Amino acid sequence: MSRTENIYAVMGNPVRHSKSPAIHSAFARQCAIDLEYSAIEVEPGSFESAVRAFREAGGRGLNVTVPFKLEAYRLADNHSVRAEQAGAVNTLRFEDDGLTYGDNTDGVGLLRDITANLGQPLVGQRILILGAGGAARGILDALLEQEPRELVIANRTVARAKDLEKLFRPFGDIRGCGFEDLRGKRFDVVINATAASLQGDVPAVSENVLETDALAYDLMYGDKPTPFMVWAQGRTTNTSDGLGMLVEQAAESFFVWHGVRPDTQPVIEALRKGA
Ligand SMILES: NC(=O)c1ccc[n+]([C@@H]2O[C@H](COP(=O)([O-])OP(=O)(O)OC[C@H]3O[C@@H](n4cnc5c(N)ncnc54)[C@H](OP(=O)(O)O)[C@@H]3O)[C@@H](O)[C@H]2O)c1
Repeated sequence: MSRTENIYAVMGNPVRHSKSPAIHSAFARQCAIDLEYSAIEVEPGSFESAVRAFREAGGRGLNVTVPFKLEAYRLADNHSVRAEQAGAVNTLRFEDDGLTYGDNTDGVGLLRDITANLGQPLVGQRILILGAGGAARGILDALLEQEPRELVIANRTVARAKDLEKLFRPFGDIRGCGFEDLRGKRFDVVINATAASLQGDVPAVSENVLETDALAYDLMYGDKPTPFMVWAQGRTTNTSDGLGMLVEQAAESFFVWHGVRPDTQPVIEALRKGA
């Protein structure tokens, strides 16, 4: 029997090392909310039944991570506009009437980290996104809303970048291409949304795509600079991993569930110190 009615979790695979339970517990302490938040590793093919079981056990909401964001989208009865545009969901809220609401907080999380935490404006900037998977999908709408001068998605599998171009064309000026099409081009902000860092790899792109002092931002995070951050250091000192985005997207999920916006700074600082 649980102590609280506020039962939440993150589902994904792998998810054992997720920082989300620590982040949500810290937010809950800050906001004096009694909360139970766990990490649940789900086998591929079992997402729907795992969500049903969680809900039957009193679960009120879920964060959803790799590889279930598209399934979470299909499972939700209603979607926020940003989830609709991304076609992917990272936040589920189980309503009292039995329906499920799906949202995607990745884009706003990235935006807050880059513009508020790192102080890098995106309006009128030339932005390059490397990768065309679930993470890229989730951030495109928020980036287009900033009205960049140029937004290019480059991907190893060119067709996936072209698909995203088609999907997001109605919302702004966006172009999809392959890595070799970037030759001779320069960008003010380069965002690594590939999973390459997970394998200790860097996308096959020349560091010449970075304008001097450009922001090189890796969605991945770790205890030390990611391979992408190291790759960028020859041309810029302005590099960041995605830890701030992780905390900011969690704060937005927290708001969707509890209607309160926690202070993210102390939580980011504590995680950086390894707390
Ligand atoms: N900080 C945060 O809060 C946050 C939030 C969401 C995601 N993320 C991170 O974002 C990353 C991407 O996640 P995702 O959900 O988008 O994964 P995904 O849907 O599996 O997509 C993976 C992408 O990476 C590309 N890729 C993989 N290995 C590569 C390599 N060696 N060289 C070049 N491209 C490579 C794939 O290209 P192909 O299409 O050619 O296969 C694809 O575009 C992960 O590291 C994830 O942890 C962070």
